[in-house]
Amino acid sequence: MSFGWAYYGLFTMASEHLEFVESSALAVELCGIPLATPLIPAAGTLAREALEDVRGVYGAMLPKTVTPAPRSGNPPPRVAEAASGMVNSIGLQNPGLERFLEDLEHYDIGAPLFVSVAADTVGEFAAMCERLVGEERVAAVELNLSCPNVEHGGLQFCAGPSAVREVVSVCRGALAGKPMFVKLTSERVVANAVAAEEAGAHALTLINTVPALVVDARARGVFLRGGLSGPAIKPVALRAVYEVSKVVEVPLIGVGGVAGGTDVAEFMLAGATAVQVGSGSFVREPQVVLEEFAAYLREQGVFARDLTGALAGY
Ligand SMILES: Cc1cc2nc3c(=O)[nH]c(=O)nc-3n(C[C@H](O)[C@H](O)[C@H](O)COP(=O)(O)O)c2cc1C
Repeated sequence: MSFGWAYYGLFTMASEHLEFVESSALAVELCGIPLATPLIPAAGTLAREALEDVRGVYGAMLPKTVTPAPRSGNPPPRVAEAASGMVNSIGLQNPGLERFLEDLEHYDIGAPLFVSVAADTVGEFAAMCERLVGEERVAAVELNLSCPNVEHGGLQFCAGPSAVREVVSVCRGALAGKPMFVKLTSERVVANAVAAEEAGAHALTLINTVPALVVDARARGVFLRGGLSGPAIKPVALRAVYEVSKVVEVPLIGVGGVAGGTDVAEFMLAGATAVQVGSGSFVREPQVVLEEFAAYLREQGVFARDLTGALAGY
């Protein structure tokens, strides 16, 4: 007997306990969108040159955050190593929405395409959503709320529940029926998640990078002020997913420190329906992460879709 996921070169035999059917062991559904695997690249972490390598690995494609106009990003230094992770201050370097849409076919990896957006004002967020709502190639939009709202003194759009509610409800109206994910940071995550759900989010992506500082002791100066990512933040992200899953109904997309198949399982057990791979993909092939996750499913005799929130006890 052979299975759809033997495509990954992993298995030719079913678990004794389960009758695996074609491709279904890895498949999940997110807001009605079928994903062949629960893995998605975290926004900003998959190089365009690597797109062909991840065909069949990621269940959806998610390019770097796009803004209304082109941005050149932050000046160097932009990255620094940290214990079990990295700090980045890339900024939202991107070609702007119109140019991005002209190049959309580059992101066709045979999987649904999600688009991450950010803007300086609520009105600009809404205008981007209005531009994307009629774009059939875009299966869902992810609002990146970890960017400053220039109309509120540069406070982030996810600084607190009222700010979240305002931008999410306006975007909800602009996006009509298209699925809308709201990406939050770990700060005030439970209150912000509730506000996002109440304002019409279809799913929540948890979490963005954790605010961090790198100091150069010899130069006695700040080397980098940016966001920490990688395995160092995994417990923070897991806690966010776990706590939020207790108070919202919408599906969660876990992200933070995933570098192996067991990490994927941990996020799903904590309450995630899908899982994004970010900095981990700089050091380990996403294909290997998927293979490890598939091996975990086989060992446990479960389907991916049955893992969500399936923590025993606690
Ligand atoms: C180099 C780099 C660029 C990033 N760019 C974006 C971005 O454009 N939009 C966004 O929402 N998050 C961005 N992030 C945050 C990631 O999507 C993710 O939320 C975070 O890194 C935590 O996941 P990880 O530990 O798996 O990297 C970026 C992270 C890194 C490391």
